[in-house]
Amino acid sequence: MSNGKVIEAVSPLNGAVTNVEKKSDDLQTTACTTGQGEVMTKSVKKALSQVAGAVHEKYYGCGIVIPPALEGYSVLDLGCGAGRDCFCLSKLVGPNGFVTGLDMTQEQLDVADENIDYHTRQFGYSKPNVEFKRGFIEKLTDAGIEENSYDVIVSNCVLNLSPDKQAVLWQAYKVLKEGGELYFSDVYADRRLSGDILKHKTLWGECFAGALYWRDLIDIATRVGFSTPLLVNASVIDLKNKELQRVVGDAKFVSATYRLFKVGREKATPHTCYTVYKGGIEDYEEAFKFDYSNIFKRNEIVPISGLVSEALKASRYSGYFDFKDNGEDLEIIDPFAIVAQSSANSTSSSPNNVNDCCLKNCRN
Ligand SMILES: C[S@@+](CC[C@H](N)C(=O)[O-])C[C@H]1O[C@@H](n2cnc3c(N)ncnc32)[C@H](O)[C@@H]1O
Repeated sequence: MSNGKVIEAVSPLNGAVTNVEKKSDDLQTTACTTGQGEVMTKSVKKALSQVAGAVHEKYYGCGIVIPPALEGYSVLDLGCGAGRDCFCLSKLVGPNGFVTGLDMTQEQLDVADENIDYHTRQFGYSKPNVEFKRGFIEKLTDAGIEENSYDVIVSNCVLNLSPDKQAVLWQAYKVLKEGGELYFSDVYADRRLSGDILKHKTLWGECFAGALYWRDLIDIATRVGFSTPLLVNASVIDLKNKELQRVVGDAKFVSATYRLFKVGREKATPHTCYTVYKGGIEDYEEAFKFDYSNIFKRNEIVPISGLVSEALKASRYSGYFDFKDNGEDLEIIDPFAIVAQSSANSTSSSPNNVNDCCLKNCRN
């Protein structure tokens, strides 16, 4: 789906993308620096606090693209810029994981490369676990990224800048391993954009002009083979500049974070299933918000759609869940499991202790 025209098509945007040479504070809207309303976990906060100031200064993301449970996994960041998210991920995947950042802009990659050694020392690693490559997100395999090679792909405010969004998603699908997750934030519009908006250089640079109509993301993603995108977070974008407001007219924009999975189509389960989150994901011991519709409290049995069931089962999250298919009768409870659980929980002073109760009855 990608072809030579993509590169030609991207090149005219370079003027707009030169925004990346500004500092985050210079932007005229909050589109490329949002993420409000998103909960930043303790681990992410801590990892970000260890990222070099020079890298932070060149951050232009629009959300938090750090999913949980990353230790030991490989992560690819599409349009990594100066590498803020990559360095944060480098900390979270640990010394046995690996992170690749890919971007088309050499100036951004130079900042990232210059900071590899600093972060390797900062995280106490004996060798770097992060690399940066120059290339186009529409042509990942041309940039030397192998098919079926990454566990997770992230991207922060980049898809909007691509003239061929289907090629990007198709390439992401190809290089993800089976069960892999694409977790990304971008700017979305409440309609298909047209006219002056599409010609406006500043609106391109500020990540508005190329924003997808949010429903189109769902069509494109499922067309290339991904599971239906699940919405993890949505926040309003503040168009600070009056002139830009005039050009966009009634169009509304949000920054949204979605998670999508590479789940073989043949595996799709059409019916509702049940699951129990067993806990164990760092920062999400008591509850794990998978998306707006699925918030899993620890040890609580909940119904999930076939789609969510297959995504969970196929992905790196599967070990944190127990599953029951619809056919299993939830009313049937194994008495031996109950007894085993009670004795594990019991203490000699517990009034609910089965043995205490029995003893009392025996005495009376
Ligand atoms: C808004 S910035 C976001 C950078 C980074 N993700 C961050 O959060 O700081 C967009 C980045 O995408 C890169 N980019 C845009 N179109 C691209 C393409 N077609 N292929 C590769 N990189 C691209 C730009 O060079 C720029 O670094």
